[in-house]
Amino acid sequence: MAGMPFPPVSVVSGGSRGLGLAIVEHLLGRGDRVATFSRSGSAELDALAAAHPDRLLTARLDAADSDALRGFVAEVAARFGRIDHCIANAAIAHEGVLAMMRDDEIDAMLAVNVRGGIIFVRECVRQMLATGGGDGNAATRSITVVSSVVAESGSPGLTVYAATKAALDGFARSLARELGPRGIRVNSLAPGFLETDLSASLSDTNRARIAGRSALRRLGQAADVVGAIEFLTGPQAAFVTGQTIGVDGGR
Ligand SMILES: NC(=O)c1ccc[n+]([C@@H]2O[C@H](COP(=O)([O-])OP(=O)(O)OC[C@H]3O[C@@H](n4cnc5c(N)ncnc54)[C@H](OP(=O)(O)O)[C@@H]3O)[C@@H](O)[C@H]2O)c1
Repeated sequence: MAGMPFPPVSVVSGGSRGLGLAIVEHLLGRGDRVATFSRSGSAELDALAAAHPDRLLTARLDAADSDALRGFVAEVAARFGRIDHCIANAAIAHEGVLAMMRDDEIDAMLAVNVRGGIIFVRECVRQMLATGGGDGNAATRSITVVSSVVAESGSPGLTVYAATKAALDGFARSLARELGPRGIRVNSLAPGFLETDLSASLSDTNRARIAGRSALRRLGQAADVVGAIEFLTGPQAAFVTGQTIGVDGGR
């Protein structure tokens, strides 16, 4: 991709840590122009921005703030002139049985994971429709929402989080039908449990239980998932849309 006349522009939410950071790093490595945001940033992301000042745009904002999301996506389009790939990755997880879950925890997960994800994608779609394809990147434009294995498998203690991810699966399936005629593919990527900050609070017992029931007998790493992003944002996935792709070590 590095030699393409128009390096793709990829926008990733939540690129400061974990899977989002791995995706940003991978997309920069293949030559994309990349934009990402998170609430706090990180030293790793700052180092990438310093190494790629012309190809990486970073911002600090809260995905629950729709005005900030709108401003960020507009800034990306103004800076790079187009958007080819939108990856809705930012999410939070509050663990706990439903009976003990507080209203504010439920509201936060809905606000960031569902509302924030949908508004982020909507803003990207508006820019994608405004700038069109047709310059060599056509048929490779895509939207990927990051879901989770638990949306389908279910998990005690993650009911609300799982509901937010199931919502994104449904959102992606319908959006795929809406945007297919415009040449934009929409898929949902459902990782299994990954060794990131998000899953850091898992007890050793739960960690061993989750690893033990997967076919590959281990938890995933962020690096295990970027290959699927490479596929979903590339020409080899030109006929793949409306899918939920599991990358979960066999659950
Ligand atoms: N880890 C797992 O086991 C696992 C399994 C399946 C699916 N997933 C999904 O994979 C994706 C990435 O997860 P991860 O494990 O990489 O999580 P992570 O390590 O906690 O990273 C989450 C990223 O999202 C950002 N973020 C969180 N809330 C935000 C907000 N309100 N506004 C803006 N940015 C926000 C974080 O930055 P700030 O905190 O600085 O804002 C960070 O960059 C998520 O969609 C998650 O649900 C994870």
